[in-house]
Amino acid sequence: MSAGAKRADQLRAELREHNERYYVQDDPSIGDDQYDALLDELRELERDHPELVTPDSPTQRVGAEPVSALEKVTHPQAMFSLANARSPEEFDGWVLRMRNHLAREGIEDAAFQYVCEPKVDGLAISIVYRDGVLERGATRGNGEVGEDVTHNLRTIPSVPLSIEDAPPMIEVRGEVYMSLDGFQQLNERRASDGKPTFMNPRNAAAGTLRQLDPRLAAERPLSLWAYGVGACEGVSFSSQWQTLEWLRERGFPVNSEIERLDSEQAAIERCLAWQQRRGSLSFEIDGVVIKVDDAEQQRRLGVVGRDPRWAVAWKFPPTTKLTELKEIQWSVGKFGDLHPFAVLEPVEVGGVVVQHATLHNEEDLIRKDVRPGDEVIILRAGDVIPQVVSPSPHAAERGGRSAAVSAPKKCPVCGTPTVKPGNSVFTKCPNRDCEGRREALLTHFVSRGAMDVDGLGEKLAVMLLEKGLVENAADLYSLSVAQLAELDGMGELSAQGIIDSLEASKARPFASVLFALGIEGVGEVTGRSLAQRLRTIDALLAADAEEIAQTPGVGPIVGELIATQLADEQMRSLIAALRVAGLQFEQEGPPPGEGHLANKTFVLTGTLPTLTREQASEKILAAGGRVTTSVSKKTDYLVAGESAGSKLEKAERLEVAVLDELALLSLLSAE
Ligand code: IVH
Repeated sequence: MSAGAKRADQLRAELREHNERYYVQDDPSIGDDQYDALLDELRELERDHPELVTPDSPTQRVGAEPVSALEKVTHPQAMFSLANARSPEEFDGWVLRMRNHLAREGIEDAAFQYVCEPKVDGLAISIVYRDGVLERGATRGNGEVGEDVTHNLRTIPSVPLSIEDAPPMIEVRGEVYMSLDGFQQLNERRASDGKPTFMNPRNAAAGTLRQLDPRLAAERPLSLWAYGVGACEGVSFSSQWQTLEWLRERGFPVNSEIERLDSEQAAIERCLAWQQRRGSLSFEIDGVVIKVDDAEQQRRLGVVGRDPRWAVAWKFPPTTKLTELKEIQWSVGKFGDLHPFAVLEPVEVGGVVVQHATLHNEEDLIRKDVRPGDEVIILRAGDVIPQVVSPSPHAAERGGRSAAVSAPKKCPVCGTPTVKPGNSVFTKCPNRDCEGRREALLTHFVSRGAMDVDGLGEKLAVMLLEKGLVENAADLYSLSVAQLAELDGMGELSAQGIIDSLEASKARPFASVLFALGIEGVGEVTGRSLAQRLRTIDALLAADAEEIAQTPGVGPIVGELIATQLADEQMRSLIAALRVAGLQFEQEGPPPGEGHLANKTFVLTGTLPTLTREQASEKILAAGGRVTTSVSKKTDYLVAGESAGSKLEKAERLEVAVLDELALLSLLSAE
């Protein structure tokens, strides 16, 4: 083997490892810069020696040529669907049918163990690996024949391009999905580009996977959860649990909260627990899949029609409802952009009463053609803002509908004549002092991803502006308990609580402050990259458009946009005032890879005696360590407090060092 070939092999192995740590284990050990440097080196090697390119090279994830059509693929083994259970009674019915079936085979009173998996709402996929290399990926289609989407699957970072210690052939099954954050960002981006938005994460994932051009898929945030194996040669599994472990060990993303349970009662409780948590997950689930664990029992139970007898889908109640659209109103965004939203006859959707729903932008409104008086379909997906999907079929056919609504000629808040800049899909209020705009900016400033001021939401922000108690975000920091306590519906105690949260917000990292400022083009991610790269506000204010454009994810147009806003007088004086108030304007902690706990990975679980988890995390970060959410072989320490649960068990199983608070503090101070 030539030296070049050896180096390419080595680079690929390293990159594969880092990729898995980043996307599957949520546990990276190097920074983006270091990763990019390795990738660049490999790219260069492969460019100079094209014969060194392998199909599983990480360079092959993006940029492939579009395909001309999606080819049909016959699955090596049919992909089944699932029978449903919607209540404990239906679940019991399923168990009874299994027992009866086995009894007919002479096995009386069979006992089962169950594996409970989230039923992620994406689309089912089959991926064939031959001799450890990804050969082909296909959608489920009708279960027998699907469509070849290999070109797009390859772009998904959590899909391994090759696996180690692999049998001659294995077909991995799983669900391709889009996280709620990814979905919301994608829709916001599309809305502001004037493109149609996706109805839900599932449609967005399906639409993306079926694109002919893989460059589109590469730009969109798709992920995979692996949940099973179809056809395989040279390996066999004795249980579902063992299958999942096998997949996890080979770098497939397997949800870490999947559990194996011993009784029907425990399985039902698990389903109800998932149902409870449904709205707080980072991805959409529409139920729980319960599978009989033992492979021999599965084999005996077999398949009825298209559904295996050994598995069932516990389905959650739907999250769409019909209601009347009373009115379309317009809100003013933080950059003066006008957003249409629907005022609804209040309706309960998935446990929450919904009165307003977003319509994104004017194009969205025109395309959906919903009008006042229509009966409309409302969708609420997880934590995402409810949206109007369309008129109900019945409304669209009905005569005598009211006229379609178009964007207002005057700002609904300040009355200034609106404008529609040629490069924008939004009609805008051009008045920089528009009250609506100021409210949106202040609400954004205190919101969760920004300064995260607990107890201070939109309602209070609006009240503070209306009463003239504040003019801008910096004024928040000179409010007194007495001033707040005088406001409607506010007592001494809640006023003190808000002052405390404002005080606490001064510890928010520089990246969050940058995001909170409300600079067009600076979202959470860009805020973080800017803080990482430039490190201080002085450096950022001194940087020109070109320099800002060097930041990952920025580019020349947005670079120019950011630089212009930072040069603005009003922005500069806001920054100066916030500095005086004591906010963080420097990137904390040592640069990546430095500090005495550099490259050490921690996971926190349970309740610590004195520190909150956030405080403990900050201390670890300040010493150069990293904090992740799930325990893996690569975790260095688990910090466990009271009522630590499955993470502690897992850490013990993997022989990860376990610390209590005291041990953590002494590790932190032992320099
Ligand atoms: S198992 C037993 N496991 O649900 C074989 N399916 O209605 C059937 N799904 O088409 C699939 N999460 O798209 C299985 N953990 C999970 C799943 C899951 C989501 C979807 C999958 C399938 C549908 C079955």
